[in-house]
Amino acid sequence: MSLMGIDAVVFGVPDMAEAKRFLEDWGVTQVSATADKLVYRTRDGAEVIVRPIDAAALPPAIEAGKTVREVIWGAASQKELDETLARLKSLDGYHVGPDGLPRVKDPNGMSLAFRVSKRTPVKVEPTMPNAPGSHNRVNQRSPIHAQARPINIGHVVLFANDFAAMREFYTGKLGFHISDEYPNHGVFMRCQRVGDHHNTFVLNRPGKPGINHVAFTVTDIHEVIGGGIAMSKKGWKTEIGPGRHPISSAYFWYFENPLAAPLEYYADEDFCTEDWKPQTFERKPELFAEWAIVGGIDGNTRRQASGIDKSGRGHA
Ligand SMILES: [Fe+2]
Repeated sequence: MSLMGIDAVVFGVPDMAEAKRFLEDWGVTQVSATADKLVYRTRDGAEVIVRPIDAAALPPAIEAGKTVREVIWGAASQKELDETLARLKSLDGYHVGPDGLPRVKDPNGMSLAFRVSKRTPVKVEPTMPNAPGSHNRVNQRSPIHAQARPINIGHVVLFANDFAAMREFYTGKLGFHISDEYPNHGVFMRCQRVGDHHNTFVLNRPGKPGINHVAFTVTDIHEVIGGGIAMSKKGWKTEIGPGRHPISSAYFWYFENPLAAPLEYYADEDFCTEDWKPQTFERKPELFAEWAIVGGIDGNTRRQASGIDKSGRGHA
């Protein structure tokens, strides 16, 4: 009786050409591209949809400038979708849009739409580690990735105008489960009781609702690093990373981009069941990152000749 994850994220942007250039480099696959609509998808079929910031079809923005205009959440089946919708139909603003998708607004004013998921699960094989006495990768080299190929859209992180209302909406109405929490400041929530550590993280920021970041899952730390270096070589600016989150355990790398707040590559997050023990944490910077590289790895610091971008787009 739950949603299974993010099926699509819709962005409104001031520069469609720059958004297209970024998505080509990010490693998602183009489905269609016109002057007023870009559709890309991840390996499992989650969609990145981009439209001009003033497109009439877009729901209202919750903050100025480029940002997420709608999140489409997917359910595993019509039955599970109906069970979620049964909890939403009494809300003010519930409606079915012209595209047939049921919609509500969360307490931030963000448009949420719902559908039976179009994603197809992808089974990936992360590189197994070797250690003395524990040989998990035998007669097999560890890969170096020339580019990331994001598997899914794992989470969206939101700044909440009314933190308590957002926490109640996502747990009480959407049925999300709390994985970990900074009391009265931040709450990590996952769609399914048995699932990845968080599909959304809500941060308390009264008076300034918005998007903190949107995150794309990749296979393992090697793809985080290889994918991040590839983005750096193409001239995209790191926000922070690579690094590692103590909460959720994931390796990350965040990039500035023409779509919204930072977009993230991440891998190796905690997977939770009913036996997961949520913890509360006091907010402090070392809980955001055990370690992280400010400014990233610039893509030209490796000694290999192939590490140098000759296209002219990279850093000098
Ligand atoms: Fe994240």
